[in-house]
Formats: sequence, structure tokens, C-alpha cells
Amino acid sequence: MFKHYLYALLFTVMLLGVQTLSMAQTLDPKYPLIPYPSSLTPQQGSFTITSKTKLVLPKESIFKNEAEQLQYLLSGSLGKSLKVAKKAAANTIVFQYDQSINAPEGYRLSITPKQVVLAAKEPAGMFRAVQTLRQLLPASIEQQAAQAQLVLPALQIQDEPVYGWRGMHLDVSRHFFTTDYLRKFIDLMALYKFNKLHLHLTDDQGWRIEIKKYPKLTEEGAWRTFNNHDRDVIARSKENPDFALDERHIVQKNGQTMYGGFYTQEEMKDIIAYAAARHIEIIPEIDMPGHMKAAIDAYPFLTCGESGWGETFSVPICPCKESTYEFAENVFNEIIALFPSQYIHLGADEVEKTTWANSAGCQELMQREGLKNVEELQSYFIHRMQKFFHSKGKKLIGWDEMLEGGINSDAVVMFWRTWAPNAPLHAARNGNKVIMTPNSPLYFDGIPDKKSVYNVYHFNVVPKGLNAEEAKAILGAQANIWTEYIPSENRAEYMYMPRMTALAEVVWSDKRDYDSYLKRLQTHYKRLDALDVNYRLPDLEGFLDVNVFTDNATLDIPKPLDNLIIRYTTDGSQPTTSSKVLDKPLTITETTTFKVAAFTPEGLKGDTYTTTYEKQTYAKAVAAKNTKPGLQATYYKASFKNTGGMAKATPTGVAEVAQLQVPREAQAPSFGVQFRSYLEVPETGIYTFFFTCDDGGVLRIADRLVVDNDGLHPPQEKIGQVALEKGLQPFALDFIEGGGGYTLKLLYSKDGGEPQPIPASWFKYAPVVQ
Ligand code: ACM
Repeated sequence: MFKHYLYALLFTVMLLGVQTLSMAQTLDPKYPLIPYPSSLTPQQGSFTITSKTKLVLPKESIFKNEAEQLQYLLSGSLGKSLKVAKKAAANTIVFQYDQSINAPEGYRLSITPKQVVLAAKEPAGMFRAVQTLRQLLPASIEQQAAQAQLVLPALQIQDEPVYGWRGMHLDVSRHFFTTDYLRKFIDLMALYKFNKLHLHLTDDQGWRIEIKKYPKLTEEGAWRTFNNHDRDVIARSKENPDFALDERHIVQKNGQTMYGGFYTQEEMKDIIAYAAARHIEIIPEIDMPGHMKAAIDAYPFLTCGESGWGETFSVPICPCKESTYEFAENVFNEIIALFPSQYIHLGADEVEKTTWANSAGCQELMQREGLKNVEELQSYFIHRMQKFFHSKGKKLIGWDEMLEGGINSDAVVMFWRTWAPNAPLHAARNGNKVIMTPNSPLYFDGIPDKKSVYNVYHFNVVPKGLNAEEAKAILGAQANIWTEYIPSENRAEYMYMPRMTALAEVVWSDKRDYDSYLKRLQTHYKRLDALDVNYRLPDLEGFLDVNVFTDNATLDIPKPLDNLIIRYTTDGSQPTTSSKVLDKPLTITETTTFKVAAFTPEGLKGDTYTTTYEKQTYAKAVAAKNTKPGLQATYYKASFKNTGGMAKATPTGVAEVAQLQVPREAQAPSFGVQFRSYLEVPETGIYTFFFTCDDGGVLRIADRLVVDNDGLHPPQEKIGQVALEKGLQPFALDFIEGGGGYTLKLLYSKDGGEPQPIPASWFKYAPVVQ
């Protein structure tokens, strides 16, 4: 059997690096807490909550809300609320006011066989303590399942977060979500101790918040006929029903089928209060001056003249007219009145400034104000809005493009462009606070794969290159969920769960132990089932895309969770709950393509994996004369979208290299290389090749396609196999780099051994005689 686990472990160790390894700690996975607390000391015994247990509250009523939250959690199972007692005697749960706990969200939790004590100074700390208690209680409480006794393990916890900004973002513009769903999302955030919900309320594709002064923003701006995102997800919904548009957001309007919706101010007030009761602050984003097409279509006076789509983004509003500022201030007056957060997010990302450059009004303004370019014009707009926010006691947040034309130190920068890695340092040195939401790995609209939880868990909130003083500028981190291709609640949950729990630990805890985290996560799936969350099931392992055998092979897939049922098909159809069950190793004697998926007993379906078991004979070795050590590298200083592009191009030159590496002569921002040689295979066997490249690459050995990792992409590993006889085998690897730095790495293993570098001595080539 293919020992994929071993490989995964080896890669983990290689990728971790020295710095992260030294952070590794042993966190006791017996306690199912995510995020893991600052300090946890196990104790002997347990405390049993029954309907006789009493609740003791401090005289001051500061923890009234938090006590209600605990009562709600317990009463469903116990059948009634706990009685409130005055004295902290035996069999009591005590809420204690403790002035010595300084961190605003800090708390202590003590569970002994006699008593449970939750201590905090601030209600926020007490709320976090209640959530810790919740995670220690059986998952069945989430379903209000009747239970006479609820058992808690004895322990002592002292806890506080590392970062004050522990955020989740949700784009409700591209696709819309009901207020009930926002409550569910807020509940999940609360369970994992997040404290900031950033709502992206407006964009080109829909305006989602009622503004009384401009009713057309929602009367017209909240509705659209199906756009290309809608058409795309509708097409995908044929394979996966989670891509279907939510019917609740489809209406007939003026004889047309339209998609949309918005929150009234009253509805939003309720959501804000619901979040506040869970100590989650909602930060509204009204994205401008770009991403404003929905508003511009309703109020065309907002542009400099033209409207519609520019070359890359939509035409923005015009920063050169007083009527624009009047509109923006009127909108924000209502937003400020509605949202108590000290922060207002102005967006300011992805602005197509061509219409500004072409506008006589803008030229005039730029001259008058001494603005050198349209980037400075954008800064002029931001400064004016910032001044207005200040006059209302609010702080401005904007995406990191804001830095381009200069900003003052009071703005908060939300970093997202992984490809502008110096932005956080630049912002910190400019005196700005920074919230880290880098596209990789914190854009949770990126399709999750077997690396995504790992990548989030190993994300360092403080980027490289910041010293201790500069690091103080980092407020924390946040995951963003853009919803162009997320039309349903189920799809949203698949995208953010469970990687959101990895982020929860990263932003709260100063400790990391991935192995412990994964074990703790296993116990969380039960709670997520009880909460009806459509989480992404853990990946299936133990097979490759293509597995080669010569006689017979075995399909044997370990269950990543005990309760899962693995099902498969061999006719190309999607596995369903009635497909064949893979409950024991399956022997394969002929080339077969399987589609495999895991199901929970509740019917939740994991990803579908396609794996081919290909029967091969050992490729015959070839004879070659006058070989030299190394490889021949034909290179092209040109830009290719895939390796096939080189076939039609004229080479820049030919170099010789001792190992599989890009020759110095070939290096350029964009290039391609065709490596040709023989591989001197030391023994007959099945060889596995682990090919990581950025951008694309294709590996052929013995004229057989082994790995197709083609196209423009970040570093990604693909694995393939081939059956080879001992001796010289033709080796052909094509590689392209599109720009921005390359990765080229090839490891091999034989008969399921561990991956290792290919010895240079295996490469031989016969120079072409001119
Ligand atoms: C962004 O993703 N445009 C902030």
C-alpha cells in the first residue's frame, strides 16, 4: 500500500522550518478545546451538572447576559434553567467578578468535583469562559437533547487572547444571506472565540443595506438579473446541489426573474445586538470609490461621466464632485447611526481610475490640490472621508491599496494582497495599525484541499521582516469569504469549516501543536453535526491520482473519522448514499478508475476523489552510447501559459546542467525549459515521482506521462507513478515560469518508500552531435 501518511509527515517536517518547530508544544488533546487556552492544568475527578446544580452570580448584574447564555445552553438538556443561589456552596456554578484579570477578554475557569468557578472582570471575558465550558460539555447539548447529567472534567484554566482582532468577513453582496444565517454564522464565531465580523455590505453585484435617504440603493441596487457568477454556479449545481442559488433570494420583479435582497435597518439593528450579546463587533464595509456599480446604476450622477465596466474593474464614483461627497456622507451618516463599532470600512480596493484621468473636473481638482497622479486623487478622497469619520468619532479601515497614494497614520490597513508583501511593513513604519487577511491562506473562498487547514494553522500573524516594535502594529488577523461562487449556506459552510477553527487557534493562542489540534478537531465534528454545519469532511488518503501496478493492487482507504462510510463507483458516476461501500481492502487486477467519497451517517458528503489504478508492464530500458553526466536544458526566454507553448517557440539557447535545475542562462522573469536526459534506474520497480512546481510542469519517463502539473499556478505538488525496468530510461521534464519567482522540485520513491532527491548520478545524456 502507498504510505501516504509517511510522506505527509515528512513534508510537514520539511515545511515547518526551524522557527515554527521551536513553537511546537504538546497540548493535551484530551480536552476538546479550540482555541487551546493559555494555560490548562488537568485535575482529578469531574463535576456533574444536574437540575439541582445552582448558579451563583455576583451582586452587580454585569454578567447577566453571560449567565443567560449559559442557562440557554444547559436548560435544553436539563429541562429547566438552573436555580440561582446566593452562596457559593457545593454543587454550584459560580460567576465571579475578578478585578485582577486585566485582559478585557481574559478569564479563569476552575472545575473541581464540588464547584465550577468562572471568573472575569469584563463581560467579554465571562462570555469566552462560557464558550470554553460549552466545548467541555457533550455535543448533545447543542441539540437540546434531554440529559439528566452533564459531566465536566476537573481542571484549571487561565486564558486570554494573543490578538484583539480575531475576525471573519462575509461578502453578502455577490450572494446574499438571510438574517437567520447571519445569526448561525455569529454563533459559530462565538463558539470559536472570534470577536469581529466584517460585513461586506455593498459591491457592484448588489447593495444590501437600507439607506433611507437613497431608497433606490436597495429598491434597484439590491436586485439583478442573473449575472455570470449566477450562471456559473447554476451550471455547477448539476454536479453539486450546494451550488444552487438560494430560492429565497429569487423574485419576480417587473416581469423579470431577479436575484437579490437586503437588510432593513431594523433587521441590521437586531443582528448587531445579537452579535454584541456574543461580544462580537460588526464592522460595516461600504466599498468605495470602486466596486460601486450597484449604487451608480441607481444614482448615475455619482460618476465622472461614463459608467459600466472599465478594463479590469467597474467605473468608480467621481472624487472630483461635491455631490459625491454629499452622497457618501449621507450614506455614512446612516451607517454610523446604525453600527456602534468604532471602525468603518471604506473599502478603497481595486479602483479603475481611467475615468478620473480623463475627467476635466478631476484635472482641475488635481491642479488645485497639487495632486500628482490619480493615486493621490484616491488618497484625497480617502482623506476627506477619514476626516468626516473622525468628526463622528470613527476610525477608517481600508484595503491595502490605500497605501499607494499615501495615507495618514490613523487609518487602519487591511492587508490582502499576498503579492504586495511589503505593504504591512510599509504600513507599520507609517504608523498605521494593520489587520492581516492575506489572500493566501486567509481567503476562504479559495477551494479547500488537503493542505488548506494545515496552511491556515501554520500562518504567522506577524509577517516576516517586522521587528518587535513594528509587530505591535498588527492588530490580528481575519479570514475573508468572498461569495461570487458561494451561493448557498451549505457551500459557505463547506468553504469555511473546519479551516475557521485553525484560524481561531492562530489568533487566540500563543501555542501551536498541529497534531493535538487535529485530534481536538476530531471531537468537534460531532458538535458541528449537532449544529447542522455542512463542514468539509477530512480528506481521504492512501491513493494517488494515478497508481501504477504490474500484477495487482489494493484500494485501501483509512477512514479519517470513525463514523464515516466510504463509497465508490467505477462507472464514472458520482458516488451516492446507495453506491458500493469500501469497508475492506479491494483487490484490483485490471486498469480501473474509481470515484470515491466519504459520507457521514447523517448523509453529509465529502469531496469526490478520482483515482486510477493503471496496469503497466515495466518499461524496457534503452541503450545509449557516449552518455555524459547531467541533463540537457533547452530554454526559452518567453512567456508561456502552459508547457505546450514551447513546442511552437524558438529556443533561446541550450545549456547543460548537472542536476534538475534551471540553468543560470535561462533565468528571466518569464521563461521555459525543456530538460532532456536519461534516468539511470538502479532497480526494476514502481517509481513514484513527487513533482512540485510554480508555475507549470509536465514529467514524462519512458515516453509515459507520469505527472501533469501544467499551467500557471502557485507551488503545488502532484504525484505520479511509472513501472520501470533497471537501466537507462528516457527522461523529459518541461517547465515554465510565468513571472514572480519559480519553484522546481522533483523527489522520487520506490515501491512505497520515503520520497528523496534524485541522485545527480542518475541523470545521463547523450549530447546531440552537431
Ligand atoms: C479584495 O479582495 N478586493 C479586497
